[in-house]
Order: sequence, then C-alpha cells, then structure tokens
Amino acid sequence: MQKPIIFALAALVFTGAAMAALTVWPIGETRNLTGMTGNAERGAYLARMSGCIACHTDSENGGAPLAGGVALETNFGTFYSPNLTTDKEEGMGDWTLETFEKAVRQGVSPDGKSYYPAFPYPFYRKFSDQDVADLWMAFQTVPPAARPSKHQDVVFPFNFRGGLKLWRALFLDQTGFQTIEGQNEAWNRGKYIVEGPAHCGACHTPRNTLGARQAELRLHGADKLPGGGKSPPITTAALMENGWTEKSLAYALRTGVLPDGDIFGGSMGEVVRDGTRFLSQDDLNAIAGFLMNQE
Ligand code: HEC
Ligand code: HEC
Repeated sequence: MQKPIIFALAALVFTGAAMAALTVWPIGETRNLTGMTGNAERGAYLARMSGCIACHTDSENGGAPLAGGVALETNFGTFYSPNLTTDKEEGMGDWTLETFEKAVRQGVSPDGKSYYPAFPYPFYRKFSDQDVADLWMAFQTVPPAARPSKHQDVVFPFNFRGGLKLWRALFLDQTGFQTIEGQNEAWNRGKYIVEGPAHCGACHTPRNTLGARQAELRLHGADKLPGGGKSPPITTAALMENGWTEKSLAYALRTGVLPDGDIFGGSMGEVVRDGTRFLSQDDLNAIAGFLMNQE
C-alpha cells in the first residue's frame, strides 16, 4: 500500500478510536438530594431570573409554556431548546430531581452525554441544592405538552457530542458559588445573581474560538452574540465612565429605560422584558450594587 493511504487509514482508525473513547468516557455524578423539599413559588421566581421560561418557550410561534423549540443561532450552528414540560414522551415527565440536578448544574443528560453550553449550565453550577429543588418543584406544575424536541443543527466537528467532554475538561469551571468575606449580604446576593442564574456573562464576556468565556476579560463586552449583535462592557470602570449609578442601573433593569431616555435594544431588551423586570427591588438593587462595586 502507498504511504499516503496508510496514513489516511491510520488517521481514520485513530479518529474512530478517539471518538469511541470520548463516547464512553463517563462524566458527571449523581448527587443524593433525597430529603430536599422544594418551594414552587421560589422556583418560579428563579426560573424567570434564570431565563428558563424565555429560552424554552417558543412564544413567537404560539408554543406552549416550556415546550421548547426556540432557535438560537450561533457560530457553531443553530441550537433548539428542548421540551421541559411534564410530558412523559417529549418532556421531563419521567425525570427525577437527581436527573434534573445533573442536567441543570452539571450539563449531563440522563444517558450520560454532555449538553452544549448554548444551554447556560456553566452558570447554573452556582445554584445551591435548595435552588435546584425549588426549580424542580416549579417544573412539576407545568402542564404537559407533546411538542417533540428538535435535533441540534450544529456544524462539523461540533456535531460530535463526545467532543464536548474535551471542552468540559478544558474549560468548565465546576466550583459552586462562594460568598466573599468582608462584603455584605446584598453585594454577595448581587454577585450570585450576575454570575449564576441571570448569566449576564453569557453575553457580556467575550468567548474564544471554541465558545468558552475568557475569564481574564470578564464582563468586558462581546461581539458575535447569538443572532448577531454586540454587548458593551459592564465592568465597574466602564459603567462609571458611561455615567451609570446604582439607582439608574436598577431602574433600567426594571423598566428598560436608560438615563438619557433611550431604551435597551437588541437582546438586552429581551433580558429586561423576560427576566429582570420580574425581579424584586431588593434583587435589582443587589445587582446594581454589585456591578458598581465589583472590586
Ligand atoms: C439561552 C437559552 C437557554 C436558557 C436560558 C436555558 N436553557 Fe435549558 N437548554 C437550552 C438548550 C439550547 C438546550 C439543549 C442543549 C443540548 O442539546 O445540548 C437546553 C437543554 C436543557 C435541558 C435538557 C433537556 C433534555 O431533554 O435533555 C434541561 C433540563 C434544561 N435545559 C433546563 C433549563 C433550566 C432549568 C433553565 C433555567 C435555570 C434553562 N434550561 C435555561 C437553552 C437554554
Ligand atoms: C442575551 C444577551 C445578554 C444578556 C444575557 C445580558 N445582556 Fe446586557 N446587554 C446586551 C446587549 C446586546 C446590550 C446592548 C444594548 C443596546 O444596544 O441597547 C446590553 C447592554 C447592557 C447594559 C448597558 C451598558 C452601557 O453602558 O450601555 C447594561 C448595564 C447591561 N447590559 C447589564 C446586564 C446585566 C446586569 C445582565 C444580567 C442580569 C445582562 N446585561 C445580561 C446583551 C445581554
């Protein structure tokens, strides 16, 4: 056989073996949450704050609440949010609190596959056990809807889910939320909301070519957001430079109205419409207080 052909074959076998190894590589762990009792009302509030309802409800096409089907166009292809209703066939009807925890906090499916980070689970790692139990209780109240989830339409080589296990090993921050000593409760609450549930960094932190957030450029603003678009920096220095105060920031997050009378455009308008306008004044003040005093 000619050399190039042998090399080509070797490469094929190697890729096949590597793919097989990635496919069986176990990820995630099952956490024992028995004994946790969730609060559905608290869970519903958290679901708003976290964008679960917005991103999993195809309201533009009259989709039932949380029945999925919202398209997210990214550099890697188009992702569709799946059905999260209590439907047994198409939704999470036969899931348990433990499978739910593994999906939401660890990004691992019931059959051991990794989810794409278009699902902001890397942020949801900051949820406490109680948060997860509350969310789960809230999801139990969602009526079943039999809308089938769509397949993800992702470009090569990202269409191979096994490859996400390498991505996780390289980029996934597995630490939960840690309060910072010396800062008060409101500041820590603000930090938790921004870095956890409200996932502000999903749009305000730039990503590398593999779609991982660049830690050293935290909240420095980003381009190539899903659906196109660009976000400005929201570091304390940038916010101060642009004339923001804690008061005007909390007000803008509740109303969408900026200090100069303009309104938030693009995806930030949706963040306010579907998320932050539902938050309590205390939580809005906490977000603003944290953002204006990050260091
Ligand atoms: C920005 C959009 C977005 C937000 C916000 C979002 N999700 Fe998702 N979610 C997705 C996408 C896209 C997937 C599919 C990921 C994949 O196929 O790898 C997904 C998958 C899931 C799955 C796996 C479902 C299955 O059938 O395997 C669960 C569970 C889930 N999300 C729960 C949540 C919860 C709970 C929240 C809020 C705390 C939330 N999601 C917020 C986009 C989102
Ligand atoms: C889905 C993407 C997305 C998410 C998530 C998001 N933002 Fe934004 N944000 C944007 C975009 C896009 C703009 C620019 C809006 C415009 O052009 O009117 C923006 C603008 C802003 C601004 C205005 C800054 C300035 O100086 O002009 C602030 C403040 C802000 N966002 C805060 C937040 C906070 C706080 C969160 C989390 C609660 C958040 N954003 C989450 C996309 C996002």
